[in-house]
Parts: sequence; C-alpha cells; structure tokens
Amino acid sequence: MSLLMETAEKFIRDRKLDRSGYQLLLDHEQDPQLLSRIREEAVALREKIYGHDVYIRGLIEFTNYCKNNCFYCGIRRDNRQLHRYRLTGEEILSCCGQGYELGFRTFVLQGGEDPYFDDDRMIQIVSEIRRSYPDCAITLSLGERTKESYQRLFDAGADRYLLRHETADAGHYQSLHPQVMSFENRMRCLRDLKAIGYQVGAGMMVGSPGQTSLHLAEDLVFLQELRPHMVGIGPFIPHHDTMYAGEPAGSVETTLFLLSLIRIMLPGVLLPATTALGTLDPQGREKGLMAGANVIMPNLSPAENRKDYVLYDNKICIGEDPACCLGCLEKRVSRAGCHLVTDRGDYKGGGL
Ligand code: 5AD
Ligand code: FES
Repeated sequence: MSLLMETAEKFIRDRKLDRSGYQLLLDHEQDPQLLSRIREEAVALREKIYGHDVYIRGLIEFTNYCKNNCFYCGIRRDNRQLHRYRLTGEEILSCCGQGYELGFRTFVLQGGEDPYFDDDRMIQIVSEIRRSYPDCAITLSLGERTKESYQRLFDAGADRYLLRHETADAGHYQSLHPQVMSFENRMRCLRDLKAIGYQVGAGMMVGSPGQTSLHLAEDLVFLQELRPHMVGIGPFIPHHDTMYAGEPAGSVETTLFLLSLIRIMLPGVLLPATTALGTLDPQGREKGLMAGANVIMPNLSPAENRKDYVLYDNKICIGEDPACCLGCLEKRVSRAGCHLVTDRGDYKGGGL
C-alpha cells in the first residue's frame, strides 16, 4: 500500500493524525482512491450515528452592525456602503414563531458584534425565547464576549454557541484581522464557552487569502484537540467592498474533502452544509451532505433585511421566504438520499 493510503487507513482507524499526516492527505485531495475511501468512510459514519436524518437550524440574522473589521467580511465596520439594521426583540420572537410553525426546533441568533445588544438586552431576548419555546434549542453566534457574559447568557437559557476560530495559525489569523483582534482572545472565548457547558461550534473558512495546506492541517489538529460539538466550514468568497475583493474564492472540492475528514475525526459532530458552499456551487449543499454533513441552516430572517446581511458576494436565498427555503431544501436533502427532521437535533457524539 502507498504511504498515502496507509496514512488514510491509519486516520480511519485512529481518528487522528499529526499535522504532517493531515498535510499529506490535503496535498492529495485529488487522488481518486483517497477521495473515495475518505468519503465512503465519512458517509458510513454519519449513517451509523444519524441515519439519513438531516437537522435544520433556523438562522435569525438579527443585527448587521459590527464593531469589528475582519478584512474578509462584508459587514465589517468600515463598510460604509451597507445599510445597517437591527431587529427588535419582538421581531426576533416573531421569526421564532414563524420558524416554530414550520417545524424548527433550533433557533440560531447570529449577528455582528453589536454593542447595542449588551448582556441585559440579550438576556431579555434569550429568556423570552426560552419561556416561549421550552422545547427548542437556542444557539447564539454573537462573536467574542467576556466569560461572565457567556455565563449569563447560558444561565438565561442559551444552549449552544457558534464561534468559528477562522484559522488555527496565529500568524494567519493576524493577517486576516486588524491588530485589535487577537488569536489568543478567540481561543480564550472557545475555552470559556466549553467550560461553561455550551455545545460549542468552531470552524474555519476554506481558501481564505494566504491559506496553505499547512494552515488547514493546523486547523484539523486544532479541531482534534478542541473536540467541538459542531464544526462550521465553508469556502471563502470575496466581497466586493473589502480589501479581498479581487482574491479567488476557496475551493468547493477542498471544502467537501474537509467535511469528510472532520466527520471521520469527530464521528458524532454536527456538521452543516453551509450557505457559502451552496453559493459557490448550485449543488454545493447536496454535495456537502453526500460528503458527511448532516445539518442545514435555512434563513428565518425577515425578507427585507436579508439583502443587508451579506458577508460575501452572491449569497443565495436572499429573496426567499422561510417556507420557500424549506421546500427547496427538502428537495435537495432528499436528492442527497436524506430527509429533514424537526427535533432539536442534539449532539450524539462520544458513541463510537
Ligand atoms: N466568505 C466566506 N465566509 C465568510 N465569513 C465571513 N466573511 C466571509 C467570506 N467573505 C464567515 C466567517 C464567520 C461566519 C459567520 O461567516 O467564517 O465566522
Ligand atoms: Fe468580523 Fe464580520 S466583521 S465576522
């Protein structure tokens, strides 16, 4: 057996590799034998743990104000071309209500780092969702906050928190972010979230400017150590009002290969087939499911705000309403041989 396939078999057996092992696999992502072996194993694991179930999460993009200035992101503070909006607590509740009727049992509140939504305001919103929908999971994606803030939101009823690490290489992280943001603080946040007891989601962009296979290998080692419950990955897509406007987008194929590797590494992980994947390739989300993903995150945000929550160009579903997205996704999911389920879809890891 070749060193490449030996490394693949070792990974499948041990569910872990060192950085050079991952780099070897990543540098041969186009090898047909490697690709089919990794994909077959990833799908088998997903089916063993989750069957053909695909979980839906209702995404509510409730503010596009952001105090940060990440170089890649369309809602960065310095983008003056953008119309900024905030949903009221009532509007957020009404998105949840609409979602609940459609069968959603997880709400993901995502926003820029908007100081308006301080702890008191967020606690009020989270407690109200918790009271109104005791059977639902509440996921927050609000960026970096203090440990005390994360704790208070958890106590108010939040269950899960998404905070992508973006890249596990400190130097690469710094090249994508302004000086005031630090890799150490990002790591501190992820550690705190885990310690508090959240189900935690990390993840990275694939093909962000300056990224090499060594960086991605570092990301895999990082995920292997952090053992998050969820991993959100999607291709980088340039946004016309950022300094990366002229950069090439990340690769769909690399993203799919990484989804399979992550499924093998963390068999019970909740792994979304992301909107960015669906933006770069019309069949991207189906392909994501067929590579080992098991979560889809349709948008529940009000139609009039969706066009303003654009982190990258050509984002899909901007003109649709939630019921349309759901119908569309049902078809896509069944084309991938799966079906949508409407329970909370909690983490089933640790079983293997
Ligand atoms: N392309 C792809 N993904 C992006 N994100 C932000 N900007 C872009 C972009 N230009 C991702 C980041 C962030 C998540 C909410 O969206 O990974 O964590
Ligand atoms: Fe940081 Fe948008 S400015 S993710």
